[in-house]
Amino acid sequence: MLKLEGVSAGYGDFQALFGASLDVQAGEAVAVIGPNGAGKTTLLRVISGIIPLREGHLSMEGRPLDRVPAHRIIETGIAHVPENRRLFPRLTVEENLKIGAYLPAARSRFAERLDFVYSLFPRMKERRNQLAGTMSGGEQQMCAIGRALMSGPKLLLMDEPSAGLAPVIVQQVFDLVRRIRSEGYTVLIVEQNIQQVLKVVDRAYLLEVGRIKLSGKSADLLASDEIRRAYIGL
Ligand SMILES: Nc1ncnc2c1ncn2[C@@H]1O[C@H](COP(=O)(O)OP(=O)(O)O)[C@@H](O)[C@H]1O
Ligand SMILES: [Mg+2]
Repeated sequence: MLKLEGVSAGYGDFQALFGASLDVQAGEAVAVIGPNGAGKTTLLRVISGIIPLREGHLSMEGRPLDRVPAHRIIETGIAHVPENRRLFPRLTVEENLKIGAYLPAARSRFAERLDFVYSLFPRMKERRNQLAGTMSGGEQQMCAIGRALMSGPKLLLMDEPSAGLAPVIVQQVFDLVRRIRSEGYTVLIVEQNIQQVLKVVDRAYLLEVGRIKLSGKSADLLASDEIRRAYIGL
């Protein structure tokens, strides 16, 4: 569904990604794991067109997206749950959700999509009139995921959904990821919480200082000495 080949990107003179290649098949959940500063957020920004790629190729369902602006990329069915959630704190939950449905195609199905998000996350329905900024971190993450689902995406990109949350809430966020998968969405998630994320995805890529160092099935990575020693601390 999504394919990156030799993608490089950066900021000004600084290069953050060096020839990264990865693919995500329809129906799969794939993680990009790696430490802080590895380039995980940059990778998702390139996929959603927020920053341009400097080398390499990017395609979605066979359609090249190398120099396609962000708003066109959303139309191909990619939705991005950004780092730190980026909700509008002084808008209500429902107003935030509405913002996710701004594409003409999604707008006409707004009521239907809202019902779907509320059925997936009944908590959001209860809190529909609450200001997003007054909710707990876990609820805000749920709202950010709901907002991304409002565009009716095929592929959901998630940037460290567990970051900054208390351990019990982290567990709930990974349960959400599981539920989204079971709804048939294809998911590409970046995480520093390696042990937890490997339990909810099929495959993962390890990114270190802008380069993909290894990749494999989650179970194999969880068992790998390299991953365990460097990242799980066992
Ligand atoms: N807007 C930016 N301007 C300059 N450098 C940036 C910017 N965003 C990220 N970087 C740098 O790019 C590298 C990768 O960052 P990032 O993709 O955010 O990593 P991660 O998400 O894995 O923590 C880091 O060295 C970071 O300092
Ligand atoms: Mg990041």
